[in-house]
Amino acid sequence: MTTYITTPIYYVNAEPHLGHAYTTIVADTYSRFRRLQGEKVRFQTGTDEHGDKIAEAAAREGVTPKEYVDRISGLFRDTWPLLGVVPDNFIRTTDENHMATVQKILQQVYDQGDIYFDEYSGLYCKGCERFLTEKELVDGKCPDHQTEPAEITEQNYFFRMSRYQQQLIDHIQANPEFITPERYRNEVLSFLSEPLEDLCISRPTSRLTWGIPLPFDDSFVTYVWFDALINYLTGLDYPDGAEFENYWGVAEHLIAKDILKPHAIYWPTMILSLGLPLYKKLHVHGYWNVDETKMSKSIGNVVRPAELVAEYGVDCLRYFTLREMSFGLDASFSADAIVARKNSDLANDLGNLYSRSTAMLVKYTGGVVPGPGASQSDDTVLEEMAGSVVARYQEAMGDFQFHRALQAIWELISLANKYIVTNEPWALAKDPEQESRLHTVLYNLAEVLRLLTLLLQPVMPETCTKMATGLGLEADSPLVNSLKIGGGWGVLPAGTELQEIDSLFPRVEQKKVKQPVRKESGKKKKQETKAEIIEGVITFAQFQAVELRVAEIVGAEPVKKSDRLLKLTVKAPEERVIVAGIAEYYRPEEIVGMLVLIVANLEPVRLMGVESQGMVLAAKMEEDGKSRLVLSTVSGPVAPGSRVA
Ligand code: MSP
Repeated sequence: MTTYITTPIYYVNAEPHLGHAYTTIVADTYSRFRRLQGEKVRFQTGTDEHGDKIAEAAAREGVTPKEYVDRISGLFRDTWPLLGVVPDNFIRTTDENHMATVQKILQQVYDQGDIYFDEYSGLYCKGCERFLTEKELVDGKCPDHQTEPAEITEQNYFFRMSRYQQQLIDHIQANPEFITPERYRNEVLSFLSEPLEDLCISRPTSRLTWGIPLPFDDSFVTYVWFDALINYLTGLDYPDGAEFENYWGVAEHLIAKDILKPHAIYWPTMILSLGLPLYKKLHVHGYWNVDETKMSKSIGNVVRPAELVAEYGVDCLRYFTLREMSFGLDASFSADAIVARKNSDLANDLGNLYSRSTAMLVKYTGGVVPGPGASQSDDTVLEEMAGSVVARYQEAMGDFQFHRALQAIWELISLANKYIVTNEPWALAKDPEQESRLHTVLYNLAEVLRLLTLLLQPVMPETCTKMATGLGLEADSPLVNSLKIGGGWGVLPAGTELQEIDSLFPRVEQKKVKQPVRKESGKKKKQETKAEIIEGVITFAQFQAVELRVAEIVGAEPVKKSDRLLKLTVKAPEERVIVAGIAEYYRPEEIVGMLVLIVANLEPVRLMGVESQGMVLAAKMEEDGKSRLVLSTVSGPVAPGSRVA
């Protein structure tokens, strides 16, 4: 089996941020997973360097477009190693061979009559670099860029996209896996249920010169999307390269929802016009927001991946992004969320299991993995869980359900931590008659660690190299590098000698916890405590500082211009407004009268222009790949304002 996985080629009008990092980490993780399965993999990313926006950004910096694109493309290229991302090919649309192939393709499509010249008036969004239809606008504006598109009339060349509409619909219907998750497939089919307009593929050089000239009319350059999408072919040296031969049939494209239409409609129709087989799959993910708000330069909340790596470590960032986002849905980044994942999942669960198990192996068997004795029911349960985790992991990773794969792994970690507690190796070690039992328990723990090293390798390569070294294995040993060989149970040879390594996830630095505003005798007073949060544990005093109360919802209405937020008026016992991100799960009328739990002493924040004085508690769960929120409430009648302790 072979795999060809691509990311979008990123515009060089902005520096790399968390959104770019996520897509590229996903592609890297997927490549590594496929390699663990013994496949040949090609992973391509790169930069998209032509178009109005780039030319304008260069002009703002007072440099030539070429100088500008070289600089920003370099920033992208230099970011990937910091994130543990290792692409096989980094393509730039200003590469000579890419430009030559784009021209060859344009000529072919023109010669076969799929490109024609015409006059066109339309609404052009510079942010999207495309004409928008009236239907796509929200309040007359582009919903992605919040700008009014410009009305432009000009003569241009057009690609006969409409000619391939039916063929595309048939393909999508016959291949349910062509576009996933399903919601995006449905979105595309719904769009295709209306007649397609042909695609304008040129810009006059009077308006834009920073592009690839049309081979049949040099007073025009090609439109950014026609240029950019072709990168997926030119990166394989289409049409004559060996890589094209090897990889085109298995192409999988990875994108976020913002560029669904170009990838699900423009690109397949272009491929059909070229007479090539369609790509195999399009994987579409949601958007990263920051503290529940859209990430944007103007708001000043752009998250830079290099800064996150410096603060939390590369594998923590990779783990966090893959665990926190349900592929296909939006997710929110916050410093608190990443610290919580680091402290609890990485330091407490995985880090502790590793350090406790290896410390006991050192103490009781001199750091040598012992041979196991006869199995008891506890051991069988652990072994069966390991088998089921490997199976679920493989399925989830193959389906881009990374959070599920990680959830499964964490079930094994949690069971292994319990296995230590119930088997008490320290007690077994005191009784010479229990030596065989002690050896079985220690062997099983070492085997869990080895399996974890294998399964986590695509997500946390650096940590897994360390874990392998600690277990006395080479990082490229098939025991931790091949699912075929290492995916089974009981394959770690007895006699393997452990090595000393540094702690996997160094303790989190002492952090000052900012205490929220407390209402005291009507006056607001800010307090700081010197309390620390270490590895996800808080003191009783810290817990007490959080004021939980029962509140009655007396009013609820949607927050303007937000799909997610409801403005709640609650009594607790005084009346206050709380903005809650529950609009996708509750209609306002169904929650009025409900008794819910709130955090009453949070510092007020403004959300979409409304001041929120507290937070409503809800349980978050996942069902069929979708997130669901269920409000927490009380089991009997309670006076609004009662303290929850
Ligand atoms: N140049 C085009 C793509 C051409 S591909 C033939 C482009 N570039 S872009 O720089 O705007 O990149 C868009 C992609 O960056 C998204 O599809 C996604 O992969 C990533 N992201 C940018 N912002 C994002 C978030 N806030 N959240 C998640 N991913 C996002 O479009």
